[in-house]
Amino acid sequence: MMYGLLIFVALLGLWMLYRNTGKQQLESHYVQEEPSSAPLTPEQIKLIQDSWAQVTPIKATAAELFYARLFELDPTVKTLFKGKLDFQGDKLMTTLTVVVDSLDDLSSVVPMLHAMGKRHIIYNVKAEHYDTVGAAFLWVLEQGLGELFTTETKEAWTIAYGVIASVMLEAYSESDRD
Ligand code: HEM
Repeated sequence: MMYGLLIFVALLGLWMLYRNTGKQQLESHYVQEEPSSAPLTPEQIKLIQDSWAQVTPIKATAAELFYARLFELDPTVKTLFKGKLDFQGDKLMTTLTVVVDSLDDLSSVVPMLHAMGKRHIIYNVKAEHYDTVGAAFLWVLEQGLGELFTTETKEAWTIAYGVIASVMLEAYSESDRD
């Protein structure tokens, strides 16, 4: 009788431990999917928003420069783009403006970025392409902003691009589970 009670208590303890571990895993997964604006300081957000305000008036040229640089860095990605590049460039700039405007509350754009990541899998975009796109994008900012592209501004944009790319890339690791 005594042994039976001990075994029951031990099993109950194990079950509670198992439930708790599962819950913790779910919680950390949730946190990853809902990043806050924590990666960026308010100063960095201001640097990004102020510098982006300088780029948007020349967004068509910036987009054109971006694709030229991207295809220079990796000519193989050219075949992934099936539509008209000026139309595509406009969509890219509009999306980036939405994200830049939401830097104070990044969690509000996570679902949009996540869905975009899923669509990029269908476009046959690979995870390694995100580094090349990041390099081309930072290069365009440097060309467009000149002296305004300070070390601090570059650092802030590097972090912001990293956050955008990592949310989009989450869709890649989830594609097996869907
Ligand atoms: C910060 C990362 C990125 C952003 C914000 C972004 C944004 C966009 C947007 C807004 C579209 C329009 C269609 C849609 O919303 O699904 C698009 C399409 C596309 N993107 Fe991206 N993208 C990113 C990364 C990349 C990367 C790394 C590649 C790889 C080369 C890429 C290649 C493409 C292609 C091939 C299309 C479809 C174009 C077509 O059908 O002609 N994107 N992207």
